[in-house]
Amino acid sequence: MVEGNGSAVETSSALIHARGLTKRFRASEPIARRSRASAGRGRSSGLQRRVREFTAVDGVDFDVRRGEVFGFLGPNGAGKSSTMRMIGCVSPVTDGTLRVLGMDPAVDGSRIRARLGVVPQEDTLDVELTVRENLLIYGRYFDLPRSVVRERADRLLEFVQLAHRANERVDPLSGGLKRRLTIARALVSEPELLLLDEPTTGLDPQARHAVWDRLYRLKQSGVSLVLTTHYMDEAEQLCDRLVVMDDGKIVAEGTPRQLIDSYSTREVLELRLPAAVADTVGERLDGSAQRVEVLPDRVLLYADDGEAALVRVHDLGLEPESALVRRSTLEDVFLHLTGRTLVD
Ligand SMILES: Nc1ncnc2c1ncn2[C@@H]1O[C@H](COP(=O)(O)OP(=O)(O)OP(=O)(O)O)[C@@H](O)[C@H]1O
Ligand SMILES: [Mg+2]
Repeated sequence: MVEGNGSAVETSSALIHARGLTKRFRASEPIARRSRASAGRGRSSGLQRRVREFTAVDGVDFDVRRGEVFGFLGPNGAGKSSTMRMIGCVSPVTDGTLRVLGMDPAVDGSRIRARLGVVPQEDTLDVELTVRENLLIYGRYFDLPRSVVRERADRLLEFVQLAHRANERVDPLSGGLKRRLTIARALVSEPELLLLDEPTTGLDPQARHAVWDRLYRLKQSGVSLVLTTHYMDEAEQLCDRLVVMDDGKIVAEGTPRQLIDSYSTREVLELRLPAAVADTVGERLDGSAQRVEVLPDRVLLYADDGEAALVRVHDLGLEPESALVRRSTLEDVFLHLTGRTLVD
């Protein structure tokens, strides 16, 4: 197949290659009746429907390299899962170019799927079965000999630290344990590329760290990982490179360090100020830092030296209820790029 844009070289080396990748959903909806009179005119009026198109992924470009952890960071509805589902060959591409492992999902979907491990956003474990049975049954989809699946299941249960629960039913397990089991299940086919859609959403901090630890070990063992998240700390901890997505578009791309260096300052001064000064604080602080963000519950002053900014705040006669100097994070990058915070 002929590649456009002269990008054949990049395509062959990239594990995933996307150019102008687009996902549109078509929804058919009934047309609302305008008035009682028109509604009464004919019975067919209630059957009229209109097809609406909604663009969930709006022409995105990215390349995932072998061996790296690549992330999609963005808020609810950004288009992360829609992108992942196209990569996973379970949702057709509407427009643009997508190559996964050098193949076209429209032509080679099943060959690609055979080489991927997928951890979907919602767990799809069989909760009536035991932990181990979930792996054994999944292994059968890959035409692997039973002895191989049994050996892999035992090894993977050790890997995700679930061996001691192997014969228990899945249903009562905690969210964190279910997530680890889903990761083990995705690894039964020994994939070279693992797709994880929000691997730790809804988990408590300890369970999240347990998942991060396993993912880090997988990367060390040579598996390439693509994940989505709306947790900036997850993206910072795990991703070698990431794209920031918002409203179907990629708004920035780079390593966590590059993104912070490009779109934020070294430090941030977070202030909580008395309600009485809230309305005028933006104006009063103007010029006291490289950038000032007034949020409903706090004011952020972006400055390379946060302590020096705090001195300027005091010089202006402002007396914050609290003041905290911290390093910039990807949350600050997102706020700068979109004007909104990541987690509502
Ligand atoms: N099957 C579908 N039909 C119509 N619209 C859809 C469908 N799937 C997703 N959408 C819409 O596309 C947009 C992007 O959804 P998507 O699930 O890709 O976002 P997301 O970034 O994964 O969000 P979340 O963080 O909530 O999982 C949303 O507005 C969503 O409502
Ligand atoms: Mg999603």
